Amino acid sequence: MNTTVDPKAVKTLTEIREEREDVGRNVSPNPTMGDIIHRRYSRRGFLGGSLAVAAIGATVSPMALLAASEAKAQGAASRFNFTEVEAGVDETHHIAEGYDAQIFLRWGDKVFADAPDFDPANQTAAAQARQFGYNNDYVGFIPLEGASDRGLLVVNHEYTSAELMFPGFARVEGDEVVAGEHTKELVDIEMAAHGGTVIEIRRVDGRWQAVLDSQYNRRITAETEMVLAGPVAGHDRVKTNADPSGTKVFGTINNCAGGVTPWGTYLMAEENFHGYFMGELPSGHREAANYERYGVPAGEYAWGRFHDRFDVSKEPNEANRFGWVVEVDPLDPNSVPKKRTTLGRAKHEGAESIVNKDGRVVFYCGDDERFDYVYKFVTAGTYNEQDRAANMDLLDEGTLYVARFDEDGTMEWLPLVHGQGPLTAENGFESQADVLIETRRAADLLGATKMDRPEDVQPNPATGKVYVMLTNNTRRTADQVDAANPRAENAFGHIIEITETDGDFASTKSSWGVLLKCGDPSIAEVGASFSPSTTRNGWFAMPDNCAIDADGRLWISTDGNNQEVTGRADGLWAVDTEGEARGTSKLFFRVPVGAEMCGPYFTPDGETLFLAVQHPGDEGLATYETPATRWPDFDEKLPVRPAVVVVTKQGGGKIA
Ligand code: FEO
Ligand code: CA
Ligand code: CA
Ligand code: CA
Repeated sequence: MNTTVDPKAVKTLTEIREEREDVGRNVSPNPTMGDIIHRRYSRRGFLGGSLAVAAIGATVSPMALLAASEAKAQGAASRFNFTEVEAGVDETHHIAEGYDAQIFLRWGDKVFADAPDFDPANQTAAAQARQFGYNNDYVGFIPLEGASDRGLLVVNHEYTSAELMFPGFARVEGDEVVAGEHTKELVDIEMAAHGGTVIEIRRVDGRWQAVLDSQYNRRITAETEMVLAGPVAGHDRVKTNADPSGTKVFGTINNCAGGVTPWGTYLMAEENFHGYFMGELPSGHREAANYERYGVPAGEYAWGRFHDRFDVSKEPNEANRFGWVVEVDPLDPNSVPKKRTTLGRAKHEGAESIVNKDGRVVFYCGDDERFDYVYKFVTAGTYNEQDRAANMDLLDEGTLYVARFDEDGTMEWLPLVHGQGPLTAENGFESQADVLIETRRAADLLGATKMDRPEDVQPNPATGKVYVMLTNNTRRTADQVDAANPRAENAFGHIIEITETDGDFASTKSSWGVLLKCGDPSIAEVGASFSPSTTRNGWFAMPDNCAIDADGRLWISTDGNNQEVTGRADGLWAVDTEGEARGTSKLFFRVPVGAEMCGPYFTPDGETLFLAVQHPGDEGLATYETPATRWPDFDEKLPVRPAVVVVTKQGGGKIA
């Protein structure tokens, strides 16, 4: 396999990311259905020109039209009372009337009082390691002393875009963006722009500010020392030349979403780790099949040219040391982050948790790739609210389960335990470490349900339900449709609602239903299922992250909407899940062109909402010099910058 980075063959970042999420086990020869579907279902493509009116008449049932007109009168049933934002796409963000969206932390902003000022033309790895990283994704808030106006903001920096970060690095030639050659310094800047940020923040006179001289502030990068904890620690398959102990790892990469544990630690999920490895495994190497199942190496970054550990021909085991959920104690800036191998090795989207009624803690994880799985992990020990230290290694013991969704609306959580069922030496699993290193293959053997790209999985403490965001899967063919993934060529995604039996989040037999099938409900062929009260602004496609607010209400952010596909930017939607208004969605915030919406996260009092605007301006032939927008600074001398946005209500009070 030729995996070297060819500087002449650079695609737009959006294309690269799509492919990155599409390399797994399914090697079906289907053509790229995605593009076809997107064109077919886009409003422009589907309802072209003067045929639009006729097309609506032909594709929307009279019942739906009747319901839609009745719905206007029923709007009051929604638990959200804000005036919707108009759906659309332009250069900037938009927020519902009566709310403020404060640009809070941008790529390059200081994380420490003594950090250098952002100077994009002369950026260095050393400066970047003291500044806010690139492409903010997960955002969490950890209150200090229980406060909602003082706490630690924890933010993941998922990936870097050299074309947009480095002046003169890429150029537009015809209809292509052609990238330059990476130097070691550029690679090292990228590594320093990955990872996460911990920063103390405070609300003073209604406005949030970063506390730059706080003792808690910290940058975690692709070079921060970490330990491998749990059953995989010290196993032969994670030993390298640099680490013969198999316990000491440097860095975390592609941290997408994450979580905050009940004991106030910060979880960083390692998602598309395969993209960072290049080279060719030595022939006949024992990891060949394992790596193929995870798409390693994908050779999307140049890191392996300068750092041997990212070249699998030189360090064939290094990729087994990524794909984990990392736990960080943000209260101790010198703490060594721990990769918790009990949660399995996957393209982890996130790791949201809840304390079960018996005191055990349950974590939900999606493995974001087409046809991959939904997992949960149940700790062996119980949470001790009085003694934080007693919880600090709860994540090292417990049981990992994978979900099988049955046609009758029931489901089973299947344990990934060595020695049980097919997870034996006969199938190549000598120990629990093998089961965890090859979590996907173990789940294959258990007969888990292949899902349409599981993203955030969020338990709702107020209702006992669990929401699974399934972002899309345009490669699912008609004969691969099942009850839990009900649409072939699923371009717009859907949301599953799990009801754990008797409110027991540790239960192994549960039930489930589809909360929403996403997409434009006015095009019958799309098959969306928003409630008729949902306006033309209110529907969305491609759910990705989500949050439950202080009142138990669901908020969903999206990744993949744009002018071509849905005629709207990504954003944050508020979705009713209970009562008459169930399935009603309203647009609260939308991002600038090219961006996806990450976060969201609420303070405990529900008065502040943190959002992350990721990869703004990354649309079309976007380079440092030619971004699709210069949000948020709108200064010709500054690049477009990903940033965290803080939302509050004008005059104070709960959001929506
Ligand atoms: Fe990084 Fe699955 O989104
Ligand atoms: Ca995501
Ligand atoms: Ca979440
Ligand atoms: Ca995504």
